[in-house]
Formats: sequence, C-alpha cells, structure tokens
Amino acid sequence: MAGSGKFFVGGNWKCNGTKDSVSKLVTELNAATLEPDVDVVVAPPFIYIDQVKSSLTDRIEVSAQNVWIGKGGAYTGEISAEQLVDIGCQWVILGHSERRHIIGEDDEFIGKKAAYALSQNVKVIACIGELLEEREAGKTFDVCFKQMKAFADSITNWADVVVAYEPVWAIGTGKVATPEQAQEVHAAVRDWLKTNVSPDVASSIRIIYGGSVNAANCAELAKKEDIDGFLVGGASLKGPDFATIINSVTSKKVAA
Ligand code: 13P
Repeated sequence: MAGSGKFFVGGNWKCNGTKDSVSKLVTELNAATLEPDVDVVVAPPFIYIDQVKSSLTDRIEVSAQNVWIGKGGAYTGEISAEQLVDIGCQWVILGHSERRHIIGEDDEFIGKKAAYALSQNVKVIACIGELLEEREAGKTFDVCFKQMKAFADSITNWADVVVAYEPVWAIGTGKVATPEQAQEVHAAVRDWLKTNVSPDVASSIRIIYGGSVNAANCAELAKKEDIDGFLVGGASLKGPDFATIINSVTSKKVAA
C-alpha cells in the first residue's frame, strides 16, 4: 500500500547557524524555484525562529526542534507549545535520535510531548529509527514498532503528524540507506499503522526518510512508493541543495 499524502520535505538545521548564516540561507530559500506540490518546513534553532518567520517566504513553514511536555511555567530553559503558537511556529520535531540517544529522552516522554503539542495545534514530525547494532541484530522492525507504539499510545489526531524514519547509522554519516532499505521499513511502518491505528491513517500519513539525504541521492529514494519525502540535516543548510531535494518530487511523479 503506497501513501497518498502530499510530498513533504523538512530541513532540520539542528544546532547550527548564526544570524548572518541564517539570513543568507533564508535569502537562498526565498530565491529558489520550488515545485508547488510539496509541503516544505524548516526547523531553525529556537533563537532564530523569529528571525526566520519574519524574513522567510510564507511558502515555507517553520518548525521547532523540541518543545516542553506540557503547559509553560517554572521549567527553566524550556519552550512551550503555547509559545511556539504565539510566534507562528506550526510544527515541532519530536523523537529525533539526537534527543533520544544524546539527551536521553525516552518513548513515553516523547509520546506525551507529541500529544501536548497536538492539543495546542502544533503539528508533529515524529521521528523513529534503529541503531546500527539493532539493525545488525535483526531488530529494526521491533525498534521502530516500539517507538511507533509509544507515539500511538499518546496520539489521537494523526492528521497533523508526519512520521520520519531516520536510521541512526545513516544520520550525519554519509551512509544513506539504500532506497530498498528505506522502502522496506516505510512499508512495514505503514502496515503497522494499518493494523494498530487505522487503514485511513496508514494510507494518508506521510512517512519521510532522513539520514544523509543529499542533492545527489534524493531522486532515487523519492521514487520508492512508500517514501513520501525527506527530513534533511546537513544538506538543508545549503539553499540550492535543499531546493533540489524538495524538487525531487518530480522523480516520484515520473515513477508513479
Ligand atoms: P543528515 O541529513 O545530516 O544525515 O541528518 C538527518 C537528520 O537527522 C534530520 O533530522
């Protein structure tokens, strides 16, 4: 079963940038010619979101890279979903491997964050993915399904969720998953959603791939029927490369 959702490309800028480099990247993105039938979102560090919101074309939506688990208050260093809404930030990335494995966020914490963000009308890019040793031990599906279950235990409104499959061994390593490897997991996750959430959610949800996606490898990945777009790290910091990845939707249309 292939997905029926609109192609989606997100740029995760991670902990990169300065006011000057952000300004340059926004200028490049504003000048880029983008295919119309793609949802495009960029995720700057919190402190640059306002700068990006006020200078970036409305064609591209803005995401945070994290959010607090509930309503704001006495939580030093945190940013609440209400505050994201206040500055016009419509998306948040949750469950990213760097937050799972470096910061130590667990499944339940991530699921609750997703539920609270959705309750405030902040849409969620829900990330899953296995470590290299988990793949080598044949546990890729087990790990991804367990992470999906934690999201499913908390999420009721799947219309505002995009799932990002990002194998940890492919993130920032230059070792992109093959189109077949990504397709296999995307199809399995879609099937898991069909059984455990609903056939409607399974067919309409976007399942995007992340991990060393670049301007050269995106077209082959985009052709796969269950790959509905990308979550891009390093290559999203270069405007022309990010535009090429967005426009890889054209190779999907040819393949269809
Ligand atoms: P890279 O594209 O740099 O591998 O990062 C992927 C990623 O983690 C996007 O969230």
